[in-house]
Amino acid sequence: MNREGRGATTPHSIALTGPETFTGNRALDLEEGLIFEIGRMEVTGVDIAEPAPFRDRLGTQARTAPLDLPGLSEPEAMRHYVRLSRMNYGIDSGLFPLGSCTMKHNPRLNEKMARLPGFADIHPLQPQSTVKGALGLMAELSRYLLELTGMQAVALTPKAGAHGELCGMMAIKAAHAARGDGATRHVVLVPESAHGTNPATAALIGYQVRAIPARADGTVDPEAVKSALGPEVAALMLTNPNTCGLFERDVVAIAEAVHDAGAYFYSDGANFNAILGKVRIADLGVDAMHINLHKTFSTPHGGGGPGAGPVVLSDALAPFAPVPALVATADGLVLVEDEGADGTELALGRMSAFHGQMGMFVRALAWMLSHGADGMRQASEDAVLSANYIRACLMDLMSAPFAERPAMHEALFDDTWLAGTGLTTLDVAKALIDEGYHPMTVYFPLVVHGAMLIEPTESESKASLDLFIAALRDLAMAAKAGDKERFLGAPYYAPRRRLDETRAARAPVLRWTKPAPVADAAE
Ligand SMILES: Cc1ncc(COP(=O)(O)O)c(C=O)c1O
Repeated sequence: MNREGRGATTPHSIALTGPETFTGNRALDLEEGLIFEIGRMEVTGVDIAEPAPFRDRLGTQARTAPLDLPGLSEPEAMRHYVRLSRMNYGIDSGLFPLGSCTMKHNPRLNEKMARLPGFADIHPLQPQSTVKGALGLMAELSRYLLELTGMQAVALTPKAGAHGELCGMMAIKAAHAARGDGATRHVVLVPESAHGTNPATAALIGYQVRAIPARADGTVDPEAVKSALGPEVAALMLTNPNTCGLFERDVVAIAEAVHDAGAYFYSDGANFNAILGKVRIADLGVDAMHINLHKTFSTPHGGGGPGAGPVVLSDALAPFAPVPALVATADGLVLVEDEGADGTELALGRMSAFHGQMGMFVRALAWMLSHGADGMRQASEDAVLSANYIRACLMDLMSAPFAERPAMHEALFDDTWLAGTGLTTLDVAKALIDEGYHPMTVYFPLVVHGAMLIEPTESESKASLDLFIAALRDLAMAAKAGDKERFLGAPYYAPRRRLDETRAARAPVLRWTKPAPVADAAE
């Protein structure tokens, strides 16, 4: 078994004097090896009947050596995966304060709906006449997204927020090309407080990115935008509420300036959960905005999915929406697959092979319908209230930049409060693991030093917020009192101790290599 990094436990104030155990387990904290380490080639948990005689057509391609795949009996396989799952931390195990990621409770009703055979067992290549219910659900979801944003059109196919950005920006590029100024408009303005995917998206489709500095209150100054605008600018991408957790109070003036300069206004709507039911995006002058269904409408998205990033578009950009497009005809809903058909002559092409993340569409609509208009509005109000409550309860101990303005969905702290302690933001995050919490987002956004970004969401009760706040207060007081040991060696209680983060990110070991057989001492 590979126990590298596990180390002996020497927690801050309690000296654990227990011996290292024989198994590596610590009571119910169970050690688990890789399947390659614990599996045996000759074992399998399933009985598969011998196939009927068949003619082998593989010729020289036939494998000559066994596959060497590890096997486990059924109970061993169950235990392996249950033990691994217990090492995982998710929204179902505790508060997940990761800022900008919106890890909220995913009601089980959503899962139940997504598993209905009429949604879960259909195939994207099925004839449309056999999936009318699924098309109806997509149309209903589109209707709600348009109602909530006030926009003209929606493209459902993007599979994540960043994919939605790509879609919206490609629509902007196509619109400029159709207008005849595509060649001259090669710059996209991106404020410093934007999410990192914004400049990445612009660069990916060939735009030059020009940064707009944040003003002292953490928001974007329309005057700074005006002075950066020119005939070479294609668009501005603005994350709103921004990554400091602040609503861009001059967003309308910014949109007007962008339009006056002949550019389009892209809004990153991944933080829509802070303003859902409160702000109609169309009223702000937005031309395109993606919505992270997997954030605003539940379904935590850690680990790469499932996600869905539909893009809502203004009148000006609607003709450039990608295919497939859902079109209401006299004969009912039709999914138009190829650009060129009625109403899709200017479509920018296809964002993905099929029609988007059906399972996410079902979950999002289930969330909307079960909340209703008042429930959705309350969800965003509660998310904002939770973030402000956390900030207010910690501000006497931890420094909170831009605190003269109400926070939106997330509470931002910097590392000024750690000055003189010899500790860093990373040390606080690691010590939070020992308290049983996934760390908050750290060192992001870049506009403040040593950022700690906490997004509690609306789904935490006051009791759970209070416990989290108390844990952070205790850590802050320990840091100020000079209890460095509690932080510098943290995490003490996790299955693995502190890793070399740079090596883990830059040189991850993703391939298991079979160890050389140990020579038998008797030979
Ligand atoms: C503000 C913002 N924009 C864009 C994204 C990208 O979304 P995704 O991770 O689904 O690609 C995120 C991620 O959560 C985000 O917080």
